[in-house]
Amino acid sequence: MDVFIVIFSILFFFTVFPAAAMGNSCIGCHSKLDQKMAGGKAFYNWKDSVHDKAGVTCDRCHGGNPAAGVPGKAHAGVLKPADPGSKVHMSNVPTLCGECHQTQWKEFTFSSHYKALISYGGKIPGPTCITCHGSMHTAILSPDNVAEACRRCHNPESRLSPNIPVEAHATLDLIFYAKNTVKWSGEFVTLAREKGYPVTDAAAALKQAEEKFRLAEIKWHSFDFHEILKLVDESYEAAKKAKRLADLELSEKPGKP
Ligand code: HEC
Ligand code: HEC
Ligand code: HEC
Ligand code: HEC
Ligand code: HEC
Repeated sequence: MDVFIVIFSILFFFTVFPAAAMGNSCIGCHSKLDQKMAGGKAFYNWKDSVHDKAGVTCDRCHGGNPAAGVPGKAHAGVLKPADPGSKVHMSNVPTLCGECHQTQWKEFTFSSHYKALISYGGKIPGPTCITCHGSMHTAILSPDNVAEACRRCHNPESRLSPNIPVEAHATLDLIFYAKNTVKWSGEFVTLAREKGYPVTDAAAALKQAEEKFRLAEIKWHSFDFHEILKLVDESYEAAKKAKRLADLELSEKPGKP
């Protein structure tokens, strides 16, 4: 009787939940491949990336059937990056990433980079999302390494706006500076609120600072430095105002509950 139940349960499990029982076959098989093979190396690059942590598995970008256990069936529809019909072809990458990163995708499509990427005509093709972020071990650039990424195409030899790396570094530095100022001002507004002071004006300025900062971050992918810096500056000024107003409450009324 017991044996019967066990056998029945196993059969039930595998017929009703075949995919769940097997897990994601892309991960299962690729994790066992030698790292010297492209397929094994890709797995180790993807492992522990932001996408691994967020559950974005191989099939989400490459297609294929993650419920099939044999490569022939699992790889159905998985095309090489060089194939213009592939989701991971350079010019199709923005659309692929844009499925989940819509705000960045939208701004990017307004940029001269996107035009240079899809027109093919230029001597230097425009960058696509993975040119700056990598494909498997996805990373965000910081002020420290952004210039290097831009310099691959924008340099004195290419004569393609060679001042861009320096401008990009300075702009991203200011973005980070504004971000910290907004965060810091927010802490003062919270402190004043916790002490029971009226923080209506300070909170309004803080909200404006946060909104302008979000817009600046979104604008980044249009690579329009002039517009980005304008928003960063507005955000920074509003954050400073919020801190000034919160400070005033905290210093003028010491000891108030
Ligand atoms: C049973 C093993 C197995 C399964 C399951 C499997 N793969 Fe593979 N895959 C391989 C092997 C082996 C290669 C060849 C690796 C190499 O040459 O370095 C490969 C190659 C690839 C490549 C490179 C293809 C190319 O031609 O450039 C991609 C992309 C890929 N797999 C994605 C996937 C995805 C997505 C899934 C799940 C839907 C999947 N694989 C499931 C074993 C597997
Ligand atoms: C966020 C999207 C994304 C995820 C997730 C992802 N890949 Fe990729 N993968 C790409 C892109 C885009 C390329 C093309 C890279 C290039 O041309 O440099 C690529 C390239 C590859 C290649 C090289 C193919 C070749 O022929 O050069 C292999 C192999 C591969 N991926 C396997 C995998 C495996 C296995 C996983 C899961 C462990 C995975 N990828 C997860 C986007 C992704
Ligand atoms: C199936 C949905 C999906 C696809 C497709 C996808 N991503 Fe993501 N991505 C996510 C999720 C979920 C996260 C983690 C949450 C977050 O930070 O947005 C993430 C995180 C990121 C981050 C870090 C963001 C941060 O603020 O820390 C970058 C950069 C990124 N992805 C770039 C890409 C690129 C480039 C591609 C295309 C090659 C891509 N993504 C394709 C879902 C996706
Ligand atoms: C020319 C280089 C470059 C290209 C091309 C590029 N990015 Fe970015 N991306 C960056 C830099 C630099 C940052 C960091 C900006 C910041 O911290 O504000 C960033 C930040 C991000 C983030 C983190 C959240 C945010 O907005 O700050 C995501 C997600 C992202 N990019 C996705 C994409 C996607 C999707 C594409 C293609 C449609 C793309 N990126 C194209 C350089 C690039
Ligand atoms: C793969 C090559 C490549 C990389 C990498 C690259 N760019 Fe570009 N960029 C181009 C091309 C090509 C154009 C020219 C488009 C045109 O002619 O309209 C361009 C144009 C621009 C422009 C408009 C310049 C102007 O004078 O009109 C800006 C701004 C820009 N890039 C910023 C950046 C930043 C910032 C980075 C690094 C985060 C970067 N680019 C990385 C290829 C690249």
